[in-house]
Amino acid sequence: MFRTNTCGELRLTDAGKTVTLAGWVQRTRKMGGMTFVDLRDRYGITQLVFNEEINAELCEKANKLGREFVIQITGTVNERESKNKNLPTGDVEIIVSELNVLNASLTPPFTIEDNTDGGDDIRMKYRYLDLRRHAVRENIELRHKMTMEVRRYLDSKGFLEIETPMLIGSTPEGARDFVVPSRMNPGRFYALPQSPQTLKQLLMVAGMDRYFQIVKCFRDEDLRADRQPEFTQIDCEMSFVEQEDVISTFEGMAKHLFKELRGVELTEPFPRMPWSEAMRLYGSDKPDTRFGMEFVELMDVLKGTGEFGVFNDAAYIGGICAEGCASYTRKQLDQLTDFVKRSQIGAKGLVYARVQEDGSVKSSVDKFYTPEVLNQLKEAMQAKPGDLILIMSGDDAMKTRKQLCELRLEMGNRLGLRDKNKFSLLWVVDFPMFEWSEEEGRLMAMHHPFTHPKDEDIPLLDTNPAAVRADAYDMVCNGVEVGGGSIRIHDPELQNKMFEILGFTKEKAQEQFGFLMNAFKYGAPPHGGLAYGLDRWVSLFAGLDSIRDCIAFPKNNSGRDVMLDAPSCIDQKQLDELNLIVDIKEEK
Ligand code: AMO
Repeated sequence: MFRTNTCGELRLTDAGKTVTLAGWVQRTRKMGGMTFVDLRDRYGITQLVFNEEINAELCEKANKLGREFVIQITGTVNERESKNKNLPTGDVEIIVSELNVLNASLTPPFTIEDNTDGGDDIRMKYRYLDLRRHAVRENIELRHKMTMEVRRYLDSKGFLEIETPMLIGSTPEGARDFVVPSRMNPGRFYALPQSPQTLKQLLMVAGMDRYFQIVKCFRDEDLRADRQPEFTQIDCEMSFVEQEDVISTFEGMAKHLFKELRGVELTEPFPRMPWSEAMRLYGSDKPDTRFGMEFVELMDVLKGTGEFGVFNDAAYIGGICAEGCASYTRKQLDQLTDFVKRSQIGAKGLVYARVQEDGSVKSSVDKFYTPEVLNQLKEAMQAKPGDLILIMSGDDAMKTRKQLCELRLEMGNRLGLRDKNKFSLLWVVDFPMFEWSEEEGRLMAMHHPFTHPKDEDIPLLDTNPAAVRADAYDMVCNGVEVGGGSIRIHDPELQNKMFEILGFTKEKAQEQFGFLMNAFKYGAPPHGGLAYGLDRWVSLFAGLDSIRDCIAFPKNNSGRDVMLDAPSCIDQKQLDELNLIVDIKEEK
């Protein structure tokens, strides 16, 4: 037997047993005639003891062990004199009688400890060493547990796990495709799925009734903390359902995951918030509802009621009330102004008003407004003495709301209102069907082109498509979109109309989605579904700042795998086989 126990297993009740363990040398300490070695594997750390007086030769061998050497030992479990309460195995040690060095190791480029000295880049380059760290490995273990629970839940609800191909055609989810050239079909390219959207719909046409897949999706888009170019969806689809059926099934799954993985019992139905309300109150379709500080629109109060040109020209003026922050110093307020002016946010400035102890208001725009107007501001904001009102304005209402949203989240951070151990879930519903794209100069599907419009809004498709709402829903937790889905169109006529509004010619729609349109002619059931972002769920449960930390081998912020050095150049022979010519004007 290679080992009788793992390094996380032995307890006081095992004292006196002869055991064999194998693992990595975390550290060695020499104290007098004794050498102590911490032996680590996936399950924990066990202390080994080598005693010079008992076996000098063995002790000398132990003294030569370097960090991360792989060893196998045999010895006797012994009660420790000085116990380590921080380790589950901390009551015991192994008095070693045999030591077998299985493999040496170079000195690792960073310490394999929870608080490592390794920076991001080096840890990513040596990700296999990073993964040896307890804190990182825990996230991977949580991810495993989550996928097991997902499978258990969905299986119990009659879902079939079905794989769909990775080499497919384009699936529009609003990002660019990653493409793969085909050697056997010169000049043709596969696209990697942005999601298995159309395929799962075809599985419904095929009568599979309930499908799921834990599936890799690929999107060539700008990366952020909660976005990877290659990520994993828990992708699901159901036949003969309405929005309520889908919502209740996946709310059930969220509750199951919270209970099994966090020990949190969520009993109430998750609140629902129409998209328009989310935008009005939070300037975001994924509001962080762990805290209030909702927006108050101030157009009536501040536009045209004073001499402040910025407000008088604004299309939107909105404020938030930061409780108890009237004591913010000039420096703190300048920091906030700098924050909203940062290029990622792009606001021109920030107006503030402090509510003083006597109830009067002192603001950065005092000279433009009468005390009465400032008092109305206080009333509108329902601000109390000691509160700070922060106001933003702009000539584009949607843009300004988004900027104010960033400020609200920043204030939430500053005031410690975004506790990682508190979870606030909701459904955002009634999304607009379309959004205008400046870049494309046309309407685009806000979710995707297969989403069903709300029945009552269908007549508007001809008259005012921009006002049409969709049967689409997102699940949001702590300001993160953890999942999204919709009821789909299953009527070929309506789907054609949708493509038309989206600016597809008949030929283009046929070329790109003919397979789906044809399938719909052969008896498509009403259907709908949802996809959860697995990486986002795990990060949320693990309290991570970036989804990268729960992915075994993630990409960095430029979409590179620095460990594999990918993407990389391919040789001329491969290019020739694929009929490809690389023509880069400027090497980056
Ligand atoms: P959507 O595009 O909303 O919907 O994606 C579903 C969920 O996937 C997660 N997600 C991501 N996670 C990490 N990195 C990314 N780049 C990334 N992009 C998306 C999010 C998101 O809520 N086919 C539809 C689903 C459907 O209609 O059933 C779809 O893909 O958590």
